[in-house]
Amino acid sequence: MIKKTAVGASDIQFSELVYGAWRLADDTDRSKAHIQKKIEACLDVGMTTFDHADIYGDYECETLFGQAFREMSEAHGITQHVSKCDVALISDKFPDRRVKHYDTSAGYIQQSVDNSLQRLGIECLDVLLIHRPDPFMDADETGAMLDSLVTDGKTRAVGVSNFKAHDYHLLQSRMNNRLITNQIEISLLANQAMTDGDLAYLQTERMTPMAWSPLAGGALFSDDPVAVRLRPALQRHADAQGVDITAIALAWLMAHPAGIVPVIGSNNLDRIRAAADAARVQMTRHDWYELYELANGHEVP
Ligand SMILES: NC(=O)c1ccc[n+]([C@@H]2O[C@H](COP(=O)([O-])OP(=O)(O)OC[C@H]3O[C@@H](n4cnc5c(N)ncnc54)[C@H](OP(=O)(O)O)[C@@H]3O)[C@@H](O)[C@H]2O)c1
Repeated sequence: MIKKTAVGASDIQFSELVYGAWRLADDTDRSKAHIQKKIEACLDVGMTTFDHADIYGDYECETLFGQAFREMSEAHGITQHVSKCDVALISDKFPDRRVKHYDTSAGYIQQSVDNSLQRLGIECLDVLLIHRPDPFMDADETGAMLDSLVTDGKTRAVGVSNFKAHDYHLLQSRMNNRLITNQIEISLLANQAMTDGDLAYLQTERMTPMAWSPLAGGALFSDDPVAVRLRPALQRHADAQGVDITAIALAWLMAHPAGIVPVIGSNNLDRIRAAADAARVQMTRHDWYELYELANGHEVP
């Protein structure tokens, strides 16, 4: 069973594994009943936190999720919802857009959050993230809007995604509320955050790292040469602990002292449930470094 973990220095708690809704619209079965089964599979194993974004599925995933979720009244008090905004896609839904861009203006953020709440069928988000750093951001305006969304009860807290330390420091310097998380790409196959300063500054600031694509978006199971090199060791650890290799790959992230919370994206009910085995994997420093070395193709200097 997946336990809860505090997010940053806040009183918000996430499940230690989060379910990401990005691929909901890609599933061959997009029916309400099937999405309810996926939500139930998550809840069965204690995965109570759900990651959304306005743009997922060309602006459709929040609606798909909300249609299923609003009928599951038993789930309403026990789930947490993260959503994101600022990416403005070229889409049939926005015929006036000429170029893909980011929009961190106050009006855009406010409208996006209202849309997300309406689509998801909830009154308040647990955490709103700025999805991508916006090079055209007016930090005073964006920071003030994020603070006012907390004050107005539209979201309990705020965070960022794909932010480097300098992006974070600028926005945080113009805000009263703390940014409590940064959602970045981290996996065995994309592990640069371990050493490029990203995990270091998140720990310095006591922010919780959320790891998107923790199984490298499925590439861990492909013929990618690094994945091929890793899999025998992952399988050996999996066999020794009676779990799937997915659980070992997730446990490699969860064992890190930064308190990484992986956001998984499977549409497969069995895989959703099996991911929870990551919570009972024992990962020693030796195990961790063995997988790190295989992922990088060389021993540490
Ligand atoms: N903030 C950002 O910029 C950002 C960017 C990307 C994603 N995200 C978030 O992160 C979440 C997770 O991303 P992700 O979906 O890329 O995560 P992921 O868990 O690394 O990858 C999921 C993919 O791997 C496949 N997979 C899982 N286990 C497998 C297995 N044993 N064999 C073969 N394929 C397997 C899944 O296929 P099946 O469905 O068939 O299991 C699915 O296509 C998203 O839903 C979203 O919430 C955020």
